[in-house]
Amino acid sequence: MRSAVVLGGKTGLLGQALSMAMTRRGWTVHAPGRSDLDLFDRPAVEDYLARTGADTLFNTVAYTKVDQAEDEPSEAARLNRQLPLVLGQASRNAGVRLVHYSTDFVFNGKKTTPYTTEDQPDPRSVYGSTKLQGERELLALGLTGLIIIRTSWLFGPCKINFVTRILELAATRAELSVVHDQVGSPSYTPDLAANSLALVDAGATGLYHLANSGQASWCELAAEAVRGADLPCRVKPITSAQYPQKAVRPAYSVLDLSKFAATTGITPRPWLQALREFLFSREDCLS
Ligand SMILES: NC(=O)c1ccc[n+]([C@@H]2O[C@H](COP(=O)([O-])OP(=O)(O)OC[C@H]3O[C@@H](n4cnc5c(N)ncnc54)[C@H](OP(=O)(O)O)[C@@H]3O)[C@@H](O)[C@H]2O)c1
Repeated sequence: MRSAVVLGGKTGLLGQALSMAMTRRGWTVHAPGRSDLDLFDRPAVEDYLARTGADTLFNTVAYTKVDQAEDEPSEAARLNRQLPLVLGQASRNAGVRLVHYSTDFVFNGKKTTPYTTEDQPDPRSVYGSTKLQGERELLALGLTGLIIIRTSWLFGPCKINFVTRILELAATRAELSVVHDQVGSPSYTPDLAANSLALVDAGATGLYHLANSGQASWCELAAEAVRGADLPCRVKPITSAQYPQKAVRPAYSVLDLSKFAATTGITPRPWLQALREFLFSREDCLS
């Protein structure tokens, strides 16, 4: 029986989807929470990996509050740069594969065609910079069993996210204004989890981009969610300038999935199809 450790698997948006996907496939999943394991204590992590007999360590733990990161760069760097380094060293010493997640926010958003893994990153936020530093720390270790998955715009069950927030707001308002000049690749966490496992099963190593197929603006994603949920709320497009945020986001961060497709033979389904499934079949959650 296969066994994995999923950091963030107890409470994280993606982590819970990964835990559920693996449990359903018969894997034994260990998902230590904050009080169960000090992730910065490398010997403790190595001991945990040895005790669980895990062959794969999934790291979904990160500092993900994009705007707050601008005010807390040290804490963002601790989780997004230092932690991957500790986990990389621990997985090498314990002889386990490491699957680590990164973000489309490593790009500056100036392209107008999907970003490939060959494109030069140029982050414009503390979050994006610290996530890129984490990638680089890991790649510099030269691990044999490392997969880094850049993903984007997560939505799914078990934790609040953009789509669930929009649905909450739309239930009480006649109109919502949502940014239409940022375009990206929405990712449904159960699909991302299943496709991550496909990469592991294919024996992949290195850097991958993974999301659902297609692209959307935040406004388009919100409008489709509201329409799919049959809520009588108008979704109005606005510009980023009309909705100032502390951190700069890329105007365009659609991810090119061709490397993933070539490695696994899988084309991720379109985000709209995944969104409809999410709206009509709310999944059970772990807690
Ligand atoms: N969300 C997105 O739209 C998005 C987009 C692109 C890339 N990503 C990347 O995808 C990955 C997963 O993101 P996510 O949205 O699923 O993250 P998330 O929901 O914010 O979950 C983060 C997890 O990290 C844990 N955590 C945070 N600080 C910790 C600490 N100091 N010690 C131990 N655990 C800690 C949290 O535990 P607690 O519940 O105890 O706080 C939670 O389980 C991340 O690498 C992120 O950068 C996300």
